[in-house]
Amino acid sequence: MPMLKETIEKNRQKYLDTWFEALRIPSVSAEAEHKPDMRRMAEWLADLLDGELGFAVHVIETQTNPLVFGQSPEIPGAPTVMIYGHYDVQPVDPIDQWRTPPFEPTVAEGKVFCRGADDDKGQSLTHVFAVKSLLETYGSLPLNVKFIFEGEEEVGSGALSAFLESEENRNLLAADVILVSDTDKPGADEPGITYGLRGVVGYELTLTGPNRDLHSGLYGGSVQNPVIALCSMLSEVIDSDGKIRIPGFYDDVVPLSERERAELARRPFDEAEALAAVGLDASFGEPEYTVIERRGARPSFDINGITGGYQGEGGKTIIPAKASAKFTFRLVPNQQPEPLTRALEAFFRDRLPAGIKMDLVFQHGAGGMVIPLESPFLQAAARGLSSVYGKAPLFIRDGGSIPIITQMKESLGADLILAGAGLEEDRIHSPNEYFTLRDFFLGIESAAAILTELARVKTGE
Ligand code: BES
Ligand code: MN
Ligand code: MN
Repeated sequence: MPMLKETIEKNRQKYLDTWFEALRIPSVSAEAEHKPDMRRMAEWLADLLDGELGFAVHVIETQTNPLVFGQSPEIPGAPTVMIYGHYDVQPVDPIDQWRTPPFEPTVAEGKVFCRGADDDKGQSLTHVFAVKSLLETYGSLPLNVKFIFEGEEEVGSGALSAFLESEENRNLLAADVILVSDTDKPGADEPGITYGLRGVVGYELTLTGPNRDLHSGLYGGSVQNPVIALCSMLSEVIDSDGKIRIPGFYDDVVPLSERERAELARRPFDEAEALAAVGLDASFGEPEYTVIERRGARPSFDINGITGGYQGEGGKTIIPAKASAKFTFRLVPNQQPEPLTRALEAFFRDRLPAGIKMDLVFQHGAGGMVIPLESPFLQAAARGLSSVYGKAPLFIRDGGSIPIITQMKESLGADLILAGAGLEEDRIHSPNEYFTLRDFFLGIESAAAILTELARVKTGE
């Protein structure tokens, strides 16, 4: 599509400036102080869809952060694609590890450093600019396009989930296919379509012992220490081979077929290099599975944070009154959060020492998913990617989660395409997140090529 490439080239600076504007709004959904920024971000996006694309736009109020919906003028008989993205970002903590200000996009070495540069402002905007470029090049779009942007993917998608409960809202979002750029491609010159994502379920466990911190000399050795109880209870969840020891945990796991293992093994992956990039010299996990399989197609357990007792300067000889931990499990098909929650409650109860009280709070949860590869839309998207990269995309399973996606796919009865433009090394959720300029513009070109191919799929109407 040489004409389209010219349009993208011509608009290069404008697309960059617009992307940077979005990045400067610190829309961190997890932190209450950023509440006004969430609204600012939603309105900024609505203005973009209206002003640049001429879409009919609604900022939809919710109990929490607004949703942004936009729709192109209707073309009867053409397929409808709904493009999903999220405008919220992760917190920037630990701030002292950022080499440049986290909300000031900084270009260096062909990369744009900023929180949200990739996840998911950069990736979301590749679709907006793809639509803009198609409109500018051809004067109209080849299919019906809807956008839905939410502001709480990073905290569990509550508002969008509730929104999908109503039939009227589902009619508004109705589409033949949902298109998402919020995942990774296998390599800089290696396109991919993600056909599986892990689910995730999050909990917080709090253990309470004495009614106040006690002198560890006066009481030590005679009462339970909640921090020790927490450590020993958590240490039983997983063994040194990465096997999760909750009874029944693996019951619903769909085993990997030999065919699928062969497909996953096609993904170029240098284990030593990938480890070195994060400062490690050894991997961890189930020995009978490769690292790629462990990440994308096997469940896992992680403690995200643990607190209790004295953390200040110097030392303090106490038995803390309390200890708590936040932890998550990644789930694969057909594991679901509910049976795990019940099993986990019983598992911890059985191990709770006398003198300690426990409170297990479920935070959010979604099962794992795989998408059937037969979808004509998926095949069309693959053709689109091939035309840009000059090679067919790999079909991959990724370890991250986009919990709302499964509900959206099911409640709209639409096919789903996850075509990521980012790379594993983009440091999403970490300090110094970036998106390369090259991947950003390739993302725009890919999104345009995918839309062009989707438009050619017969919907049988
Ligand atoms: N975009 C990511 C998920 C992702 C990244 C999937 C790369 C595949 C490859 C998303 O924004 C994310 O971080 N999701 C959270 C969900 C959680 C907060 C409920 C996750 O996976 O931890
Ligand atoms: Mn994301
Ligand atoms: Mn994320």
